[in-house]
Amino acid sequence: MHLKQSERLSKLPRYLFADLRRKMAEARQRGIKVIRIDIGDPDEPTPDPIVAELCRAIDDRNDPDRHRYGCDRPVAEFPQAARDFYSRRYGVKLNEDQIVSTMGSKDAIVKFCLAIMDPGDVGIAPQPGYPTYNIGHVFAGGSTYYAPLRKENDFLIDFDEIPDEALRNTRILWLNYPSNPTTATAPIEFFQRAVKFARKHNLVVAHDAAYSENTYDGYKAPSILQVPGADEVAVEFFSLSKAFNMTGWRAGFVVGSAECVKALNAVQENVDNGTLRAIQFAAAKALNMAEKLLPKINAVYQRRRDLVVDALNSAGWRLEKPKGTIYIWAPVPAKYAGDSGAFAADLLEKTGVMVTPGRGYGQAGEGYFRISLTYPDRVLKEAMGRIAGVT
Ligand SMILES: Cc1ncc(COP(=O)(O)O)c(C=O)c1O
Repeated sequence: MHLKQSERLSKLPRYLFADLRRKMAEARQRGIKVIRIDIGDPDEPTPDPIVAELCRAIDDRNDPDRHRYGCDRPVAEFPQAARDFYSRRYGVKLNEDQIVSTMGSKDAIVKFCLAIMDPGDVGIAPQPGYPTYNIGHVFAGGSTYYAPLRKENDFLIDFDEIPDEALRNTRILWLNYPSNPTTATAPIEFFQRAVKFARKHNLVVAHDAAYSENTYDGYKAPSILQVPGADEVAVEFFSLSKAFNMTGWRAGFVVGSAECVKALNAVQENVDNGTLRAIQFAAAKALNMAEKLLPKINAVYQRRRDLVVDALNSAGWRLEKPKGTIYIWAPVPAKYAGDSGAFAADLLEKTGVMVTPGRGYGQAGEGYFRISLTYPDRVLKEAMGRIAGVT
């Protein structure tokens, strides 16, 4: 058989890291001890009380539904815990029809695009940014207008810069603060501008808040739903992945516009069968214990952030310490003339350290590289020592 793949698969961008992966394998073959500090997947375990709740729920002989489809027998405690969390954390009151649980944000981003976009429609996505917004647009038959994030604008989207032509069939505007990969944070005034922009152009503003709880030095990231009336045009994608070291669990939720929530739910009902009930119980536990659990998790990242930024600054960089995310976003040394791919390849070759070239997040990420703080301190220290030795 000669498999003919769908058009939509052929439209996916080439995997930009494939080349680096190959170089990494080659370096290993030559005996270089490769140290990876490129992937954002928490190394620390999920906190004990969450794991204990999962174990309790999966082994609860009084719950005859514990092994069954999560969609048909949803755990009411999970959306309730999410609503309580939004109320405590942001002062945002959500009605029951303003929340839907998800199997993590990546999945929900694509499903949401399927729910609200038709062929020919356009979505606006930040660049550099998380690639899945574009994937969602492409899978829905649409395309992407990339709004550049520039250092001189504090990596905030400049709405005035978006040309009218880009707004003709535009259905959605994606935001992500604290931002992967730029680590930028957004003040509430920025979200006010975004909501105004969405109203003016009759589009949905979707805030991907994947790192809203990974913040440092006392900084608290705002929710777009804190903007009065935002829930008429906005939704927020909350994920437990990075906040609670739960990437593998696939747990999150979307809150805000009831119409959007309903549309996403309609896709989910037709495509997946929900999350295991025990995971829903455990997710509720995590949210109910957020104030207790998050400071410990964030203390680890803050310590690593300081370790990495201080080391890079001693080696000649001039970085500020980011207030959020689990990354460091740094310019490549001047001699690479903004070629992040060449820098990453050279660094791998000379030191065995694998970072992510900014180019991987789109052309507007060129000139930068990203380090992830999801590696043990000793690994980061060793990597920083090696980087300092060659720059
Ligand atoms: C900006 C952003 N959004 C969403 C996700 C995916 O999160 P989840 O694990 O909830 O699918 C990530 C993961 O790296 C991310 O960086």
